[in-house]
Amino acid sequence: MNSPAVELRGVRKAFRRRERESGAHWWKREWKDKVALHELDLTVDKGGVTGILGPNGSGKSTLIRILGTLLTPDAGRAFVFGWDVVDDALEVRRHVNRVSVEAAFFKELSPWENMVYAARLYGNTGGTRRRVVEILETLGLPRDVIDQPMKQLSRGQQQKVAIARSFLTAPSLLLMDEPTTGLDPRSKKEVQSVLESLRSQREITVLLCTHDMDEAAAMCDRVLMMDGGRVLADGTPGELSTRYDAPSLEDVFMHLTGKRLEAEEMEEVAP
Ligand SMILES: Nc1ncnc2c1ncn2[C@@H]1O[C@H](COP(=O)(O)OP(=O)(O)O)[C@@H](O)[C@H]1O
Ligand SMILES: [Mg+2]
Repeated sequence: MNSPAVELRGVRKAFRRRERESGAHWWKREWKDKVALHELDLTVDKGGVTGILGPNGSGKSTLIRILGTLLTPDAGRAFVFGWDVVDDALEVRRHVNRVSVEAAFFKELSPWENMVYAARLYGNTGGTRRRVVEILETLGLPRDVIDQPMKQLSRGQQQKVAIARSFLTAPSLLLMDEPTTGLDPRSKKEVQSVLESLRSQREITVLLCTHDMDEAAAMCDRVLMMDGGRVLADGTPGELSTRYDAPSLEDVFMHLTGKRLEAEEMEEVAP
C-alpha cells in the first residue's frame, strides 16, 4: 500500500461552548462555536518523527484525537494509511496508538501486569513474559521495576511503560500527545531517548505534539507549527530557521505570530 501515513483534506473541527461577550453581564452567556481546526490540509509520509508544535489551545490534541478516531471531523476527511478515520475506524484503530501525558494504569499493578492486561484487551494473548520484558528493557526500564507497583515508578518510567504498551500492537502510527510535558528533567531525558531511538525505525511513523521547541528541534525530522487551529509553517527545523532567518524554533514562532510560546503556556480557562 502506498498511501501516506496521514492525509488530511479540509479537516475542520469546532466545539460548541457557552461564552460571555466582552462587556456583557456575567450571567449572559451565548453558545458559540470555538474552531479548534480550520480546514486543515496535511500529508505525512511514512516513517520518521513529525513534530506538531504550538501553544496550548492551538489544536494539537484535537488533530491527534481525530487521527485516533476519538473525535470525528465536522467537515473534510482524514485518512490513516489510506483508511478513512470515520468510515474505516476499526482499521484505523488497528494501525494507530496514542500515548498521552496522563496515561491510565492500574497503579497497584506492576508494569508487567498492566502490559498483560493491555495485550489481552487488544485481543492478543501473545504477551509472553519474554516479549514484554524485552520491550520494557529496550526502553531502558530497569529489570527490577518491572514487577513493582506502577505507583512506585517515577513519572518518566511510567511514561515509558505507556510507550511500551503502545508497542504491543505494533502500531504503524504512534500518536504522542505531549509525552514529556510535566516530567522532571531526568524523566524527560529518559522519554526523549526513547523518541530518539524511534527516529531510526523507519517502519513506525511518529506524530509528536509538544510545546517544547528545543525538544522539537532535537527530535523531529519535520516540524509543523500550529497556532489558532492552523498550520503556520512546515519544514525541517533547519529549513524553518533558514526560511525565517531565525536561530531557533522559538524565534521562528515569534516571527510568525509576534508572540513567544512561553507567554501562551497558561491553560485556557473558561470564564
Ligand atoms: N471537548 C472540548 N470542548 C470544548 N472545547 C474544546 C474541547 N476540546 C478542545 N477544545 C478547544 O479547542 C481548542 C483546541 O484545543 P486542543 O486541541 O486541546 O489544543 P492543544 O492540544 O494544542 O492545547 C481550544 O480552544 C480548546 O479550548
Ligand atoms: Mg493538547
